[in-house]
Amino acid sequence: MDLLKKYSNSLEEHLDKAVTIQEPTQLYEPIKYILDLGGKRLRPILTLMCCDFFEVDYHKAMNAALAVELFHNFSLIHDDIMDNAPLRRKKETVHEKWDLNTGILSGDAMLILAYRLFEDYESALFRELARLFSKTAIQVCEGQQYDVDFERRDDVRLDEYIKMIDCKTAVLIGAAMKMGAIVAGASTACKTSLFEFGRNLGIAFQLQDDYLDAFGNPDTFGKQVGGDIIANKKTFLYLTALERSSPSEAAELRHLFSISPKDPSDKVAIVKRIFENSGAVSATEKEIAHYTQTANEVLNTIKISEERKEELRNFGAWLMRRKV
Ligand code: IPE
Ligand code: IPE
Ligand code: MG
Ligand code: MG
Ligand code: MG
Repeated sequence: MDLLKKYSNSLEEHLDKAVTIQEPTQLYEPIKYILDLGGKRLRPILTLMCCDFFEVDYHKAMNAALAVELFHNFSLIHDDIMDNAPLRRKKETVHEKWDLNTGILSGDAMLILAYRLFEDYESALFRELARLFSKTAIQVCEGQQYDVDFERRDDVRLDEYIKMIDCKTAVLIGAAMKMGAIVAGASTACKTSLFEFGRNLGIAFQLQDDYLDAFGNPDTFGKQVGGDIIANKKTFLYLTALERSSPSEAAELRHLFSISPKDPSDKVAIVKRIFENSGAVSATEKEIAHYTQTANEVLNTIKISEERKEELRNFGAWLMRRKV
């Protein structure tokens, strides 16, 4: 999206300077590597955008934006270890390219580098940003733990799944937006509403991520298609397919999600067919639309110009059309 260019150009420039390769190179090279693989950069762009909306120079929110992106990339390195994922942004994951220990330690260092970026803010701002960051980071850990716990459980409920994705994904998107508003000195009401907008969009975003994980185009998706099925992830697709399938298909699905075959290609194909035939795919699309609409309703209550609201609505719509 062209209107985002001004934010992303500036962001890339600063991101490049934020991390330099130094000794020991084994620690810093993987950090540079994952950052150089790019990604959509949606969270830091939202931080800059939200600051800009309140007529405050968005460069003031740059360190907060960088911190959010570093944190996100740290979580991806560790997530790929936990999910046993071979591919990230069309390239080898850090633990595949190097090894497990490198992934763990480079991830840790990245988290610390993220925190450091708040140090330059004056004390009141620093406190507010760091407090939100810490609260969000611990929620992401909680969400990630639920996600892994659910792989082994066969009684996960839909409300538990929504809570899990709220923690692992949605609150970070909400926090990224709120940080922009914090730096801009926006009112408490504006900060809260932007957080809620981002959070609802974040839930829609993770639902879409789960859909793409199963049905994305392997040539463009950039991650292993079927990875969630292979890892027995209890996604919205899986949970609604269970609810809507015939007893025999539901039993087959349960069975497939209790095994880990060496060659998973048959399992992935059968599960995808059940997801489609049960109506789980269309239910997921509906759920994405529902959370996007809730986000837009929250947006209507925020005291920013109609033009700005339109930019955020467009951003949300663009995210939901994504294929990556
Ligand atoms: C991937 O996030 C992890 C999720 C929360 C689904 P993104 O889809 O934003 O990843 P990049 O940064 O664009 O690669
Ligand atoms: C990741 O969820 C959430 C975090 C990294 C905190 P996923 O495991 O679905 O993300 P991808 O699909 O690997 O990007
Ligand atoms: Mg993953
Ligand atoms: Mg994961
Ligand atoms: Mg995923």
